[in-house]
Amino acid sequence: MSKHTVTVTDNTSGKSVEFPVKEGTHGPGAIDIKSVYKEFGYFTYDPGFTSTASCRSDITFIDGDEGVLLYRGYPIEQLAEHSTFLEVSHLLLYGELPTADELDAFTASITKHTMVNESLKDFFDGFHYNAHPMAMLTAVVSSLSAFYHDSIDINDPESRELCAHRIIAKMPTIAGAAFKHFVGEPFVYPKNRLSYSGNLLNMLFSRPTEDYEINPVAEKALDQLLILHADHEQNASTSTVRLAGSTGTNPFAAIASGCAALWGPAHGGANEAVLRMLEEIGDVRNVAHYIDKAKDKDDPFRLMGFGHRVYKNYDPRATIIRKTCHEVLHAMNMADDPQLELAIKLEEIALQDDYFVERKLYPNVDFYSGLIYKALGIPTQFFTVMFALGRTPGWIAQWAEMTEDGEQRIGRPRQIYTGAARRDYVPVVKR
Ligand code: CMC
Repeated sequence: MSKHTVTVTDNTSGKSVEFPVKEGTHGPGAIDIKSVYKEFGYFTYDPGFTSTASCRSDITFIDGDEGVLLYRGYPIEQLAEHSTFLEVSHLLLYGELPTADELDAFTASITKHTMVNESLKDFFDGFHYNAHPMAMLTAVVSSLSAFYHDSIDINDPESRELCAHRIIAKMPTIAGAAFKHFVGEPFVYPKNRLSYSGNLLNMLFSRPTEDYEINPVAEKALDQLLILHADHEQNASTSTVRLAGSTGTNPFAAIASGCAALWGPAHGGANEAVLRMLEEIGDVRNVAHYIDKAKDKDDPFRLMGFGHRVYKNYDPRATIIRKTCHEVLHAMNMADDPQLELAIKLEEIALQDDYFVERKLYPNVDFYSGLIYKALGIPTQFFTVMFALGRTPGWIAQWAEMTEDGEQRIGRPRQIYTGAARRDYVPVVKR
């Protein structure tokens, strides 16, 4: 029995049961309710999982009230300033920052796997030119299963590691192919002498007709954005990856399901939605009207890039991105971008408005990320693909952790059935 327990009493039968509380390193403990059904014959009810810990995890910690985000114990601010996306990917996968030799070996392995099978590249020709890039990404990531299904043994640690390296290595190549299909230009092969983010920029923007020089400001900003998106504990897409993975499906299929979950505007699709919202608002003079719309319960409009299930304080990633956004736009001579001015005004007004203050609605990671992507030349529809790229090491690290966790079983929630009571079939002529 753990040190802390919680006793639950059924007020109808009078039966009391003591449940252990599982404690973590930081954050609130969790009442272990596995035996509730056996003890009481009740399920627990928590739509949206607002009070439910679905697993134990060593990877990421969030304190939503204080605005704290740690990857394997390291504050996001320190990683964003000093680390690189590949180093952070190693940290998430293996639990530790790599030594110089480990980083070299990891980088070599990732670069070795950047190419995709030529026939996978052909898949893009099946998509209409203006297919949404997230549709292409989700389908093609899932299709990786077709190339590796027989060689994946999810019970073998080496096989799991190889999968992790493959998916981290191939995501930029797939994203690059989706981008080139989207803009109607020829596919650009990965260049392994470039950094992870430099290679991505090259695959997005270089053309066979002219030399392309990677802008170091863009390369650094992109790498930082990927770091900020790399993991976020049990968010909707990660929980989807874990749930799909709990069935024993192959990891590429599980990550494709994560991509699908990320696409929604309440999650990773919010970065695209923020830019569309800024376009719709159009001018700072319209801000007050849109703030009123966001507060009106009869109006479906929400201030995109605002609010978070866990953060009831400034999202620490938003603080970092806000600063980078100013730096990037300044470096690219876009500091007077009207959408930046609009975003700043919107934030300023919302942060003073009682509706947003009372509900603790602050800007989240997606509020400023779209403005940076736009400055880098990435089209709005492509923003969520960038988020997916960044989230990939988190997804695969969480999938691996789940696979190695002896306590995990197939994820199978229960329900409260509210449909018709049992009734007998009536032949169609008698209905
Ligand atoms: N604009 C206006 N009102 C809002 C907003 C918003 N963006 N977000 C929440 N509220 C209100 C909501 O109407 C509710 O009000 P009331 O208590 O009067 O009914 C209250 O705040 C609590 O909101 P909720 O919907 O119960 O909170 P949730 O935890 O279920 O939803 C959220 C979190 C992120 C889905 C939501 O805040 C939202 O839709 N935000 C806009 C979309 C967005 O920016 N998403 C990106 C999230 S961060 C990146 C990621 O994780 O992918």
